[in-house]
Amino acid sequence: MLRYLTAGESHGKALVAILEGCPANLPLSEDDINPDLARRQEGLGRGERMKIEKDNAEILSGVREGKTIGSPIAISLPNQSRNFFGNSFTKLRPGHVDLAGAEKYNQKDLRNILERASARETAMRVAIGAIAKKLLAAFNINIVSRVVQIGGEIKEKEWKALVEKATAEGDSLGGIFEVEIQGAPIGLGSYVHWDRRLDGILARALMAIPAVKAVEIGQGFAAAALPGSKFQDEIFHDQSKGFYHKTNRAGGLEGGVTNGEPVVLRAAVKPIATLKKPLQSVDFASKKAAEAFVERADVCAVFPAAVIGEAVAAIEIANAFIEKFGGDTLEDIRSAYDSYLFRL
Ligand SMILES: Cc1cc2nc3c(=O)[nH]c(=O)nc-3n(C[C@H](O)[C@H](O)[C@H](O)COP(=O)(O)O)c2cc1C
Repeated sequence: MLRYLTAGESHGKALVAILEGCPANLPLSEDDINPDLARRQEGLGRGERMKIEKDNAEILSGVREGKTIGSPIAISLPNQSRNFFGNSFTKLRPGHVDLAGAEKYNQKDLRNILERASARETAMRVAIGAIAKKLLAAFNINIVSRVVQIGGEIKEKEWKALVEKATAEGDSLGGIFEVEIQGAPIGLGSYVHWDRRLDGILARALMAIPAVKAVEIGQGFAAAALPGSKFQDEIFHDQSKGFYHKTNRAGGLEGGVTNGEPVVLRAAVKPIATLKKPLQSVDFASKKAAEAFVERADVCAVFPAAVIGEAVAAIEIANAFIEKFGGDTLEDIRSAYDSYLFRL
């Protein structure tokens, strides 16, 4: 089983993570991780911080002579921007967890909430996801993503101008991204118990990305309006292809199990909560009306959210893969996988 924990504040010394359960003998180096970290920092609507920070992960353990050895993999990701101990604030930011977090953990300084709630932490999910991707790639499973909407249903060539307009007006934008898992074999996940359903596991992983407000599998929301005859994917068989579907409205998952088609996930990302033109709010200390605190912010996070979506989907698919085919070594997984494919 793959599991991981992350720690670190947005402007603390570093983010750190431990990944446990990665099979031995997977070739791995920082070069497998840093390109995805760079991708997370790109895209329309990113703020100033992305120009300051250039993420460079360091693998601290679990890898020797370029290969995993089965022991936990520790990763460190230093922050270049480190003002964790300065910069207190009390003006609540609508759309953030400032209020609920301060009440819950009995904090007066909202900095203590912002620092861990910040989406900076997702850099570590991307780093862990890159390892999961590397494992999956060894079995020809690839994960890609694309942004499908920014600021509503407008043409892609209009996105840039819309983001520039929002930036100029001190506003923000959301959108939709899609993640596609290609090459996943039939039979990952399970229908036998609710918490083993891969649809639920993937939806949770995507939903837990900051700012994601809705998740769809295949034609999820459209399904509600279609008759069964227009939604279900009919099954065919061919000597060379085996079983297949001509359509993929289910998004590659039926009964919480991969059905051999690409797994297609979509997530809706809300507009960034921190606006240059501050929202009306309340000062947590004085309880008087105040404008929300403004930290340097992105205008649109849909592009990085897509990269994070790839990562968290990769982690869950890799976990399902290890569950099905074993997790100690790459060779053991390969022989179990090959004999499964042979049986099919
Ligand atoms: C990659 C990424 C970058 C983000 N950057 C910002 C930001 O600069 N400013 C901001 O207010 N919210 C940003 N967010 C969103 C907040 O982290 C998120 O809305 C907030 O923590 C509240 O969580 P919730 O929206 O999931 O309820 C970002 C989200 C992602 C995925």
